[in-house]
Amino acid sequence: MPGFFCEQKEGEKRGKLAKKMTAEDKNGMIAANVNSFTKKKPAEECEKSGDNCSTKSRREKAHQAGMEKGGRTMTREEAHTILMKYMEGENYILHSYAVEAIMRGLAKRLDPDSVEKWGIAGLLHDLDEEQCDWRNDMKVHGPTSVEILKKEGVEDQELFDAICAHNPKCGVKAKTPIQYALLAADPMSGFVKAVAQIYPDKKIASVKPKSVLKRFNEMRFAAGANRDYMEAIEFTGLRLEDLVDVALEEMGAISDTLGL
Ligand SMILES: [Fe+2]
Repeated sequence: MPGFFCEQKEGEKRGKLAKKMTAEDKNGMIAANVNSFTKKKPAEECEKSGDNCSTKSRREKAHQAGMEKGGRTMTREEAHTILMKYMEGENYILHSYAVEAIMRGLAKRLDPDSVEKWGIAGLLHDLDEEQCDWRNDMKVHGPTSVEILKKEGVEDQELFDAICAHNPKCGVKAKTPIQYALLAADPMSGFVKAVAQIYPDKKIASVKPKSVLKRFNEMRFAAGANRDYMEAIEFTGLRLEDLVDVALEEMGAISDTLGL
């Protein structure tokens, strides 16, 4: 969601960030994610070589599902390239990485075969942040991202619906786990960051789940973070406490990248 902890500083450019993300992240989460796609052997090759490709059938199934829906699966690398093309503000990009990380963590618990897809939904959910006038018309936030993705040749209705549903003001209400997850992960990423900033070292490693939950109930704290959206995680079967655990763990894993 634009506007919350997403303020862009003048002159902040993507170059620094792109460089940061292509460098080896200490924790390697995102780099590993890219590599897992680019370095996988094609399925046929696995069969020929007799390799035990445990993820082979899962990936094929996911790919097939995408094709059946009339779309094509997008890699994380492709998604990141699109993000870099349309987003320049460092804070926006870092927010995208944080939501991506939380979405991957939630998918591990809720839909383990779709970790990449959920991550990509997180990564691209604010793609139109700097591409439309959402400050004057919130209805355009979400649908504009879909237009951009279509222009880029992406056809993935599940991804499009999740991106739109993260902004109920565009008229799309969340109905599925990925949609509720994105609705909840978006404000939670900023909320966790706000809690970290209370601590002297401003580090996510200092934040305890209990502290996040305590601040959650203080309505004046980070008042812009929509509590209802965060609580929507419960429609997936997870509890708010689970969302907090996932956010701390997954954002903590890329804390160097996030600068937290
Ligand atoms: Fe967002």
